[in-house]
Amino acid sequence: MQTDIQFIPRHVSVKEAEGKAFVVIDALRASTTIVEALSNGCTEVMPVVTVNGTFHLAKKFSGEDTLIGGERGGRKVKGFDLGNSPREYTRDVVSGKRLILTTTDGTKAFHMVAASQHVLVGAFTNAHAVVQRCMTLKADPVMVAAGKRGKFSLEDVVCAGMMIDLLEKRGVDLTDGARAASILYRSFDRDLLGMARISEHGRTLIRLGFEEDLSFCVQTNISLLVPVFRDGSIRLE
Ligand code: MLT
Repeated sequence: MQTDIQFIPRHVSVKEAEGKAFVVIDALRASTTIVEALSNGCTEVMPVVTVNGTFHLAKKFSGEDTLIGGERGGRKVKGFDLGNSPREYTRDVVSGKRLILTTTDGTKAFHMVAASQHVLVGAFTNAHAVVQRCMTLKADPVMVAAGKRGKFSLEDVVCAGMMIDLLEKRGVDLTDGARAASILYRSFDRDLLGMARISEHGRTLIRLGFEEDLSFCVQTNISLLVPVFRDGSIRLE
């Protein structure tokens, strides 16, 4: 078994996806929000690329218990029920409801690797559980760092590096890219919050008033859940 990383997401064909399991990581904040929503009883999360696509899909489910959430520029979109702060996705808000979610980078990344049979949602909050699941799949794990508008994102690669580090401890071989991510993780592992605070996106979120989201998102292993993306929907299996 060998683990690899996409430092920024790229489209994967069915042939390329063969024998691989993809872990989509948008630590600040989409992956963390998805894990939190499903932990609190949300029935499914449908990741959508565009804001218009979100409203369009919501019409299909009108009359059903469906919420629309997400952000553009970090802020809740006009007409949406919720933004992209994981702290909004409490049990009283999301339990028993479907969530249609669009975010700048995170929700797009799922569609880039949709050709794969195995697409998992990874965050600091469920890192150990994701690694455990990867060890049971007969597939090489590929971490997909969602990045920021097509650019490298520190917090996503550090989160990927954490999972890679755990995989290496379980005897999994690393590509050079995976090793670089693991080294980066180890240089921040004693202060993940400090890492989040100096990251570009972390600084943007602080400026927008979402500082508390940073400490929420760097909590490690508070969830045992491993959401899976299949046929346009993210669920617990
Ligand atoms: C994204 O998908 O780009 C992020 O989750 C943005 C955010 O933090 O709201």
